Amino acid sequence: MPVTRRREGNTGYVTLDNPPVNAIGRAERADLLEAVGWAEAERLDRVIVTGAGHAFAAGADAREFDGPPAEPHLPEVLDAIERSPVPWVAAINGVALGGGAEIAMACRMRVAAPQAQIGLPEVTLGVIPGAGGTQRLPRIVGLEKALEMITLGKPVSAAAAQAAGLVDDVDEDPLDAAFMINTEDMGCRVPVWELPPPPHDPAALAAARERLAARSPGQIAPLRAVDVIEEGLTRPFHEAMQSERAAFLALRQGDQARALRHIFFAERAAKAPSDLAAVPLPLDTVAVVGGGTMGAGIAYALLNAGLSVVLLETDAEGVARAGANIDKIVSASLKRGLIDEAGAEARRDRLTLTSDYAAAAKATLAIEAAFEAMEVKKQVLSALQAALPAEAVLATNTSYLDIDEMAAVLDDPARLVGLHFFAPAHIMKLLEIVRGAQTSDAALATGFALAKRLRKVPVLAGVCDGFIGNRILARYREAADTVFMDAATPWEVDEAMVAFGYAMGPYEAQDLSGLDIAHANRRRQDVTRDPARRYIPIADRMVELGKLGRKTGAGWYRYPGGGGKVEDPIVADLALEEAHLAGITRTEMTEAEIAERLVLAMINEGADILHEGIAQSARDIDLVTVFGYGFPRWRGGLMWHADRLGVAHVVQRLEALAAEDPVVWTPSPALLQCRDTGCALSDYRKA
Ligand code: 3HC
Repeated sequence: MPVTRRREGNTGYVTLDNPPVNAIGRAERADLLEAVGWAEAERLDRVIVTGAGHAFAAGADAREFDGPPAEPHLPEVLDAIERSPVPWVAAINGVALGGGAEIAMACRMRVAAPQAQIGLPEVTLGVIPGAGGTQRLPRIVGLEKALEMITLGKPVSAAAAQAAGLVDDVDEDPLDAAFMINTEDMGCRVPVWELPPPPHDPAALAAARERLAARSPGQIAPLRAVDVIEEGLTRPFHEAMQSERAAFLALRQGDQARALRHIFFAERAAKAPSDLAAVPLPLDTVAVVGGGTMGAGIAYALLNAGLSVVLLETDAEGVARAGANIDKIVSASLKRGLIDEAGAEARRDRLTLTSDYAAAAKATLAIEAAFEAMEVKKQVLSALQAALPAEAVLATNTSYLDIDEMAAVLDDPARLVGLHFFAPAHIMKLLEIVRGAQTSDAALATGFALAKRLRKVPVLAGVCDGFIGNRILARYREAADTVFMDAATPWEVDEAMVAFGYAMGPYEAQDLSGLDIAHANRRRQDVTRDPARRYIPIADRMVELGKLGRKTGAGWYRYPGGGGKVEDPIVADLALEEAHLAGITRTEMTEAEIAERLVLAMINEGADILHEGIAQSARDIDLVTVFGYGFPRWRGGLMWHADRLGVAHVVQRLEALAAEDPVVWTPSPALLQCRDTGCALSDYRKA
């Protein structure tokens, strides 16, 4: 039964019971409505509503959003709760999100457990609250706080909710605290809908709209939420509720909400392949080799997950540098309030910094994050083989290199797996798990178990230069450089991609990460590069000029005084010079044309990656592009976006560009197969 109810004395207990997180679907709504009638028929003094298990309720069941809305609708159910002569109290035992928070707000009073989280995260699913959240929350917490909570979608803790007036009490035992509330106190409480709305404040509304334009450009739902909140400030409650519902239902069917739902469920479905039967190794102590930015980030991620870490460096100087890098992350985490002093101390206690591989003798997993050079990686793996137990899994964090070649130095190549983290490794959620030709199932299973422990999104990748993400990134940058040489400036390219939905364009992003890594890769690829493929030399010229990005003070842009980017005429001249030398007559391209080329280049590469079996599914490519490379989440990821454009359209546009340069633009066999069979990339299976 999705909602259970029982009577104890004159109190009714109604429990949402739809594991694992008590999402509210049609059955829960019907049961809740029935419970309202039951409480009235039983002439109860009060009803205490709570959730079974760890959650109060995670909100409306988003799996129902693809179908037509089914009665009874949540606003009607909540209206019945709010108008009932039997007062309802919410005992919020865990997360109360979306429709869950809306149930709580329809109650006369709310008591929360200290670990509860309350919020309206609907905009993260591309919708707005659809059961009174935009109308009840401002009446309870005021306009400013409601605007913040609804448009950003970030839940608040029980303590913060109490400070904002959203809950009346915080108690270890919210059921008992709800029972102890004096009946008279409750009877005096006015239902939320009867409270006056906060005053109309044009300045606060304008500021919210401005913030959103900068923070979530291109996204519809947050701005619609502001509109609906504003309506509620001047119109009667039940009229504004109609507007809210209409906006919710319209958004729910829209492209952005579908894309965000796709990513929400894809993230949760990212797990070890179902046919991977091997048992992962137990994880307690993990060795990390290399304490640079990447290694320190990985070590900190492991410490955060409660693991012990042996961080290995080559010498005392390296050990000191690694220690300083970890300290920096600890301090930043303290400053942001993510951990407290005790937490910092606990993490330091579980960390051993050393240059002695013997200290890692107990580790069941080692992750090398040493310098990106094959010989260095081979030496490190040999040293790990000598120091760790024979059954320990060895992992490489290489971004590009051939892990099969690395595995060949090991007595047992099956113990090597690729674990490709993204910087900063303690923050970025993506983990590419690379299966080499001989990687054992136990090593793979251990990689997936680690991802789960670190709460990362794991994606299985095959061996190739750059795996899934960096291979697509290389094509993105190649297309950007070609546009730059033939038609535009870095600024124009970056603006085009920001307009598409990226937080920053490829040139600004490369200035942050540094131009030297890509340069080293190009040199490595010199021997294997297809001589027929057009090579754009501008990035090499930049490196010759020492313009390596922000770390050298300038890259594609200058950053006077360490501030924001400004255009660099020298960089623009490089394109003119190189175009002249190559005999190219530069043209003009619109923002839309620039973005189209960069996106088509990535889609074509993504399709090749599918065709070659490097990625298992289009969904995996969506996860990689969204969680590792800043592809706009509300577009659903690269391949989801390609399917929205339509495969036939993508092929047609690629064929048009192939007339210009067939080597670069010839459509992938996967795209042609999908076009010919009429299937979407998301359903692609190799013929
Ligand atoms: N609808 C359907 N399924 C949901 C769901 C929802 N709202 N929330 C979670 N689930 C499912 C997940 O898909 C997952 O399913 P699986 O086990 O089959 O993979 C399962 O519940 C557990 O979820 P998580 O793996 O995410 O568990 P966590 O413990 O890590 O997190 C959570 C729990 C914080 C509740 C997180 O799932 C979450 O943030 N959920 C979404 C909350 C949300 O956005 N609610 C708003 C919905 S829209 C709405 O309410 C409209 C209303 O205004 C009318």
